[in-house]
Amino acid sequence: MTDSIIQTTGLTKDFKKTRAVDTLDLTINSGELFGLVGPDGAGKTTTLRLLAGLLSLSEGEATVAGYDLQKQSESIKKHIGYMAQQFSLYAELTVLENLRFFAEIYDVPTEKMAERTETLLQFARLTEFKDRRADHLSGGMQKKLALACTLIHEPEILLLDEPTTGVDPVSRREFWDILTNLHLNGTTIIVSTPYMDEADRCSRVGLIYAGKLIICDTPHKIKDELPGEMVEFLTDEWQKAKIVVEELPGVLEAQTYGEALHLLVDDGNKRLKQITKALTKNGIKFRGARVAPIRMEEAFISLIQKQESGISVSGNSK
Ligand SMILES: Nc1ncnc2c1ncn2[C@@H]1O[C@H](COP(=O)(O)OP(=O)(O)OP(=O)(O)O)[C@@H](O)[C@H]1O
Ligand SMILES: [Mg+2]
Repeated sequence: MTDSIIQTTGLTKDFKKTRAVDTLDLTINSGELFGLVGPDGAGKTTTLRLLAGLLSLSEGEATVAGYDLQKQSESIKKHIGYMAQQFSLYAELTVLENLRFFAEIYDVPTEKMAERTETLLQFARLTEFKDRRADHLSGGMQKKLALACTLIHEPEILLLDEPTTGVDPVSRREFWDILTNLHLNGTTIIVSTPYMDEADRCSRVGLIYAGKLIICDTPHKIKDELPGEMVEFLTDEWQKAKIVVEELPGVLEAQTYGEALHLLVDDGNKRLKQITKALTKNGIKFRGARVAPIRMEEAFISLIQKQESGISVSGNSK
């Protein structure tokens, strides 16, 4: 794929004292399902709002769907669908009325309106709720309606800001089935998410930290960034366990996930034995110790920890 649909060079946004987006170089190809991840306040929303033409840029250049972001932001709007992080529906309007409202805003031709709202209702599995007020829908349904409203003018680029945050796992999966269908139909999707399983479903992922793109690659390659293998186990005494195992040879990094300890080690099977031995010796009860595959979550936490300690991350490719 060489057909870029979004290209930014040195894209920067300053809010008074805060540099929310810092010299971002990003190329997104047509048809990509691109994930944007990063801690709170990293600059994900600002990046998406810039790309949607909703914010003026402070420095740099960007083209979206062939238009210059600074000079032609009005022309960009009909090519993109932007779903905001916050509730963006009209609370007192019904599902159908919301769809019609967005259709009017986006100048959907009247003769196409009925068919398109019908299709989107089915697509979002909201047909039986079409007369329910938006604020009486469940959180997951609200997100699906917001997505349907975003799709009403059939945009070729979707910018979705944490569309599934706070949604139950079943609705989250449904939402992603919809996204996958759109992706398979050729829509370019940029989606920010705090969920690493979602990041794993993207064709490429960009990690933003303090406004900067730290790494941008396929999930597979991002996981490959971590040297070594992962050993994990569960323990009620994770604080004590962490101190013991961190000192062992071959343990490169320790991450805690509640009562689970995930250790990045140079050689999984070799270190697993030493780790279990050391835990037993120190009287620490544990269970489920095993060598496990590295997941996105560990890769990102490791990359962020490296950023925080000032170690530069290699392999940053566009
Ligand atoms: N309108 C604004 N005025 C001033 N500062 C802002 C404004 N919008 C965002 N910021 C700041 O810019 C930085 C990036 O914010 P942004 O909302 O883009 O982050 P985010 O990655 O979307 O975070 P979250 O995961 O919490 O949604 C933060 O420091 C934020 O406080
Ligand atoms: Mg945000």
